[in-house]
Amino acid sequence: MKILVIGSGAREHALVWKIAQSKLADKIFCAPGNAGIAGIAECIDIKVEDTVKLLEFARKEKIDFTVVGPEMALAAGIVDEFIKAGLKIFGPQKRAAQIESSKIFAKELMAKYNVPTADFKIFDNAALAKKYIHEHGAPCVIKADGLAAGKGVVVAKTIPEAETAVDLILEKNAFGQAGARIIIEDCLEGQEASILVLTDSKTVIPLVSSQDHKRVFDQDLGPNTGGMGAYSPAPAVTEAVFKEILDKIIYRTIDGLVKEGIEYKGILYAGVMLTKDGPKALEFNARFGDPETEAILPRLKSDLLETMLATSEGKLNKIVQAGGLSWDSRPCVCIVCASGGYPGEYEKGKAITGLAEAAKLADIVVFHAGTKKAQDKILTNGGRVLAVTGLGNTIKEAIEKTYQAVGKISFEGMHFRKDIGYRALGGK
Ligand code: AMP
Ligand code: GLY
Repeated sequence: MKILVIGSGAREHALVWKIAQSKLADKIFCAPGNAGIAGIAECIDIKVEDTVKLLEFARKEKIDFTVVGPEMALAAGIVDEFIKAGLKIFGPQKRAAQIESSKIFAKELMAKYNVPTADFKIFDNAALAKKYIHEHGAPCVIKADGLAAGKGVVVAKTIPEAETAVDLILEKNAFGQAGARIIIEDCLEGQEASILVLTDSKTVIPLVSSQDHKRVFDQDLGPNTGGMGAYSPAPAVTEAVFKEILDKIIYRTIDGLVKEGIEYKGILYAGVMLTKDGPKALEFNARFGDPETEAILPRLKSDLLETMLATSEGKLNKIVQAGGLSWDSRPCVCIVCASGGYPGEYEKGKAITGLAEAAKLADIVVFHAGTKKAQDKILTNGGRVLAVTGLGNTIKEAIEKTYQAVGKISFEGMHFRKDIGYRALGGK
C-alpha cells in the first residue's frame, strides 16, 4: 500500500517509523515531514493546512491510506474532503473533531452524558465573566473555546490573574475567533494522565496509559510547552483506575457522540486528572498526543497500520477478534530536546551532533521534530527539535538509558528537562 502521513513533528516521525514496520506498507510519503522522517519516507513539501494540495497529491499518487497527525487539519475538515473524494483516511470528520476544536462542545457533551469533569460556566462577555470570577473566587481555570496551539488555557491562582486571562481572550482577542467564547471552570487537583483509545464508534481498543510533562522546567515550573517529555505506562493509572476512566469517561463520551448522531473514527485522547474523587476529564483531543505517541508506539508489538485501517473502515471488531493489540511490557520514556529560548523566541539552523552515536545505543530511537537537512548536516528547525526515546526493563532503567542517549547529542542552546518520569519513580 501507498501511505501518506500528514505532519512534521516527532509524533509523525513515530507514526511513520511504526507504519514502516508493517507488511502492508510498500511506500510512505510524509507532508511536510522533517529530516528524520526523510530517512524512512519521501517528504513532500505541502503544508498541513493545505487540504486542496494534499487531496490533489493523494489522487495523483493513488495513495491507499492517509494518516492525519495534527488537529488543525482535522478541524479544517480534511477527513471529510478525502472521504468525499473516495479516499481512505484515518481520523475523525470535522463534526466529530469538535471534541477538540471546541472546548464548549466537549464540555456540553460531557455535562449531557454524565462524564465526570470540572464544573463550568460559558461566557462571551468580559464583565459578566469577571463578575462570576469575583463571586466564585480563585483558583479557577480560563479556557478559550477554540484551537489555540496549546496556549488557550490559563490556570489562574488569583482573581487578578483570572481577570487578566479574561481580558486577554475576550477583550484583546488574543486567539481571534477561537476566543470568542470562554469557559471558566473549577480548578482540579491531582496527577494528570493521558488515555488514548482507538475507536470506530462501535468498538474501543485502549492503548497503554501515558503521562506527559507540559511545563518547560524541572519540577513542573515555567510556562506550558507542547510537551517536554512523556512516559508509558503511567503507574498512577492502575488497572482499577483505567477501568473507571474507560467506563465513566471514554465509553460515555463515545456513546454520547453516537446519540448525537456523530460517528467518531480515529484516536480519542482523554486528558484526565486523577482527583481524590476519582478521574475527571480535563479535555479531549481528536488525534495522537505529542509526545505521548513517541512513548507509546515503541511499546506496540502489533501492526499499527492494519489497526488504523480497520478503524477507518469501521471494522475494529476484527482486531479484537484476532486477539487485540499486543504490547511490550517494558516501560518507555521520551525526552524532548528543545531550542534555546523555547517555548519563547528561539533561533533555528544550529548544527546537531551525536545523532548517530545516540541511535546506536540499544533500545533507543531518536525521533525528529523540528529538524532539516542541509548538505551533510542536520540542523535545528523548530522549538522542539528531537524526542529521544528509550525502553528499559524498569522505568528507572528506561530513564537512565534515555538520558545516556540525550548525553550524546548536542546543539547550541539545547535544553531538556532533567526530571522526566519523576512521578513514575514515586516523586510528587
Ligand atoms: P486542556 O487543554 O484543557 O487539557 O488544559 C491544558 C492543561 O491545563 C491541562 O493539561 C492541565 O494541566 C491544566 N488544566 C486544564 N483544566 C484544568 C482544571 N480544570 N483544573 C486544573 N488544571 C487544569
Ligand atoms: N501532549 C498533549 C497533546 O498532545 O495535546
